[in-house]
Amino acid sequence: MGYADDMSLAAQGWDQPDAVRVRVPGKINLALLVGPRGDDGYHELATIFQAVSLFDEVTATLAPADITCTMRGAMATGVGAGIDNLAVRAADLLRQEYDIDAGVELTIDKSIPVAGGMAGGSADAAGTLVACARLWQLSADDAELAELGARLGADVPFLISGGCALGLGRGQRLTPTLSRGSYHWVLAMSDHGLSTPEVYARFDHLAAQAGRTPASPDLPRELMMALAAGNPREVGQHLVNDLEPPAFSLAPSLRTLLGVGRRAGALGGLVSGSGPTVAFLACDEDSATNLALELSSQGVAHQIRIVTGPVPGATVI
Ligand code: C5P
Repeated sequence: MGYADDMSLAAQGWDQPDAVRVRVPGKINLALLVGPRGDDGYHELATIFQAVSLFDEVTATLAPADITCTMRGAMATGVGAGIDNLAVRAADLLRQEYDIDAGVELTIDKSIPVAGGMAGGSADAAGTLVACARLWQLSADDAELAELGARLGADVPFLISGGCALGLGRGQRLTPTLSRGSYHWVLAMSDHGLSTPEVYARFDHLAAQAGRTPASPDLPRELMMALAAGNPREVGQHLVNDLEPPAFSLAPSLRTLLGVGRRAGALGGLVSGSGPTVAFLACDEDSATNLALELSSQGVAHQIRIVTGPVPGATVI
């Protein structure tokens, strides 16, 4: 891959910016069907991703040589900004692949919870790839960035494209899915994260205990049909997450939280990804507000947010 070659943005007449700001959404999994663990240590998935309007903002500012990172905002507590940070690794990977000498100062304003099942770390990596590609004037298109992103985490490619998509393999083999209308979600977030590897390990443990070997997952066809029809009631009935039993086993309060939301009138609810964020679907904006008020008054979640989806992926602003 080349840096500032004939195909670069500079050659196309773009001025090199000093700084680039990218807004990147979090995701929820409307279906997460989990198959067996493969030789690479990852489970085979069939998942429907929807990008939702809870955004992190990544600002990439030109720097002489080093990659530095500062995390800010309500959800930044406890996130390391060193080389283990996925955004720093994303900038480093891009620099190696394109032989870049320049550095970058990353500032990340976090609203997506960390270890919350909404791919907050992957969102920051996706935002960093898009921001740094523009900052360093690389010729990389979204497909190339998604390919690099998949090396950092299975959710990164989806957060570059956004919208609504079927993810196969580890979730990184994406096909956009037809989704009519806008969906109103109430997110109930926890103040402590769940570790993704731990939730998958518990999934394996529960399967072994039951003497069951997970089969390759089927496509969540009924959910896909409900999304294509734009029918929130049907969507609510077909939300499914095979990681709920292990997430409940690690965090039993999630089961109670789901019960409260359902009784308060949600069309459906599920743990997002490996949790602990729980997403409740409401039929419209007013119902979402009422549901959020009810959940708040019962004190069952650390933080509650109303979001809509689908929204676009990482976007320069
Ligand atoms: O995708 P990510 O690198 O965030 O995944 C973290 C860990 O979660 C993996 O190392 C693996 O243990 C587990 N995982 C899995 N199957 C998946 C996704 C994640 O077992 N499809």
